[in-house]
Amino acid sequence: MKLRRCAVLMIEPREHLEFDLGVLFQGDAAFAARITWVALAPHLDGEVELSVEDLPILAHVGETLWMERDALPAEFDSARIAALLDTGILIGDLPAHAAHRLRDERTRAAHWRPLSAIGHAFSRWHGQRADIDPGTDRFKNVREMVEALGAPPPETISRASAAARIALPTAHSGALDLALFARYTGRNYDRAATLPTATAARLLQRTFGAQAHRELGPGAIALKKTSPSGGSLHPIEAYVLAQRVEGVATGLYHYHPLAHALEPVQALDAASASALALRFVAGQHWFADAPMLVVLAARVRRNFWKYRNHPKAYRAIVLDAGHLSQTFYLLAAEANMPAFITAAINEVDIEQALDLDPINDAVLAVLGCGEAANESSTVEFRSAT
Ligand SMILES: Cc1cc2nc3c(=O)[nH]c(=O)nc-3n(C[C@H](O)[C@H](O)[C@H](O)COP(=O)(O)O)c2cc1C
Repeated sequence: MKLRRCAVLMIEPREHLEFDLGVLFQGDAAFAARITWVALAPHLDGEVELSVEDLPILAHVGETLWMERDALPAEFDSARIAALLDTGILIGDLPAHAAHRLRDERTRAAHWRPLSAIGHAFSRWHGQRADIDPGTDRFKNVREMVEALGAPPPETISRASAAARIALPTAHSGALDLALFARYTGRNYDRAATLPTATAARLLQRTFGAQAHRELGPGAIALKKTSPSGGSLHPIEAYVLAQRVEGVATGLYHYHPLAHALEPVQALDAASASALALRFVAGQHWFADAPMLVVLAARVRRNFWKYRNHPKAYRAIVLDAGHLSQTFYLLAAEANMPAFITAAINEVDIEQALDLDPINDAVLAVLGCGEAANESSTVEFRSAT
């Protein structure tokens, strides 16, 4: 039997602080630190705890060349080698190892930069609630936060004395002003309102639609959109969760940027769509009420085709998402509506609902928009004027 190491692997020495009553009674600090070795490999579903005996084994097995299992030094514990094969940290060539081997091969084929692959894979959420996150929810308001954490860093900085500043003329008005000043993140959507078909169509086409396309090389087609994209590759696909869009049955769709059409992924009844929306945005009910939500999911291989194993590639993809989001916001503002973006999302739940593989499809954010409710029960930052 032959084996090699999985393509992407980082090992983190993780500290666990434990309360130790015995130590407290001896008059020392009450906490004891224990270190475990945690393997982070993005082709696996979760972290894997290693034993210290695994480390010399992993120091012996490279990720590129296959080696005979029997060529490993005899002093290595066979049970540990078997456990590493079982968990998928080591990849074997037998049929029993096929599932991990295939996922590892997909990771290799995608050309992820290892740090980016790990950063993305291990920042995904499954079934999390951002509305009751103990990180920020223990504070009722900003005043309480400041009391507990101190004031944040200042709202901006000064790099020269006031006398050294070069005053600029007042910004003149321009065609974008109306939308720019009307843009805000809405957290109070009218649950009775339906998004008109024409509004949804304009929002989707002008944000995600191809305004032109051009063959740059054989089979290499670039889409021109209203937002810029790293390498002109536009890897981000838009998936629509239609809750109340006029003329569109409730459900999940893929927006086709060339056909300017919604492709059905899954039909849903109103209650399931609402539950899914809430799950997508990790319990942020102030967003889940929007009549239309849009998931941004990058087909990373489209970008990594050009930027293979590139240290900036994943960052460029995330920046692409930000540009699309602002375009979406401005179009919503033009249509007299608030919009939202959130990265506090349950990527794993979204992948499952849309049948996406996180090695190839990076779910990055959820957007949405809709008519504002008359009452405002969740805080918003309206009006720039
Ligand atoms: C990348 C990104 C992530 C955000 N995530 C959330 C979020 O999870 N929940 C939320 O209520 N607002 C979220 N927002 C909205 C911001 O809170 C909002 O932009 C900010 O309060 C300023 O308000 P404005 O957009 O109305 O100017 C996010 C904004 C950005 C750009």
